[in-house]
Amino acid sequence: MITLRTVSKVYPNGFHALSNVDLVIPKNEFVFLIGSSGAGKSTLIKLLFREELASQGQVLINGVDVMSLKNKQVPYLRRKIGVIFQDFKLLPNMTVYENVAFAQRVIGQSPKKIKTRTLKMLDLVGLLSKRDVYPDELSGGEQQRVCVGRAMINSPDLLLADEPTGNLDLDTAWGITDLLCKLNELGTTIVMATHATHIVENLKKRVIRMEGGKIIEDSALNNVAPRSLPVLGAALRSGSLPKWGRVAPTQSSKPSPSPSSRPNLRPNPKSNLRHKP
Ligand SMILES: Nc1ncnc2c1ncn2[C@@H]1O[C@H](COP(=O)(O)OP(=O)(O)OP(=O)(O)O)[C@@H](O)[C@H]1O
Ligand SMILES: [Mg+2]
Repeated sequence: MITLRTVSKVYPNGFHALSNVDLVIPKNEFVFLIGSSGAGKSTLIKLLFREELASQGQVLINGVDVMSLKNKQVPYLRRKIGVIFQDFKLLPNMTVYENVAFAQRVIGQSPKKIKTRTLKMLDLVGLLSKRDVYPDELSGGEQQRVCVGRAMINSPDLLLADEPTGNLDLDTAWGITDLLCKLNELGTTIVMATHATHIVENLKKRVIRMEGGKIIEDSALNNVAPRSLPVLGAALRSGSLPKWGRVAPTQSSKPSPSPSSRPNLRPNPKSNLRHKP
């Protein structure tokens, strides 16, 4: 789904943020991007939805070179991509409901469907009671959850999550991560930049470590079993999206919880947010 060939990015001030990055991410994969602050994680993510243009190399999404797209074609690329931004980018003059509904208006969804799906998504991220509130009246974690809802609402083929748990307490961070895992189980490819080592270590997915604008380690190339789901597997495979809830271990030092200790991963029979066939 994603191919980067010798990609470099030099910002206008001359800073080399990425140097000769080669990367292949197959469809349906869940990849963690890790590395210290300034390593180039957000820059790499920005290249994938053409927020930034590479200075050199090729960025292919489903075989399409995103750099060669004309400006008027870019919205079509972005329709298939959900993005959770490190700095939220919520629309300040729109309510929580409108921020989540907006992405569906853009793709011409019917008003009835918009309403149904938006309310379901707000329920899922635990913000139904805040639907008429504006972003500046929300906590950081609540704003983060609006971003998650907005990114997931159109069941994107690819979800780019830049520090989606950055402002969240541990339990809430796990709730967001569970939603991303479920979306991945339903067919969405996920690229998640994160500093949350407890999440990365617990989920045992593919991990790409960046440093100084380069990929210095990739678990897919190290024969490390990348995609077992020790915590979530059975529950996530069994049905519809889990509803929002408190699902995490309460201390980062705690070992992986057993499935039975994470009760709200049970399928939610009310939810019908699924990928279109
Ligand atoms: N618009 C820009 N102009 C110039 N330099 C930039 C720009 N954006 C980012 N950089 C620089 O590029 C480097 C990589 O930035 P990037 O945001 O990709 O890092 P990151 O790995 O996402 O870090 P963090 O974990 O702090 O989010 C940093 O040194 C940063 O200062
Ligand atoms: Mg970043």
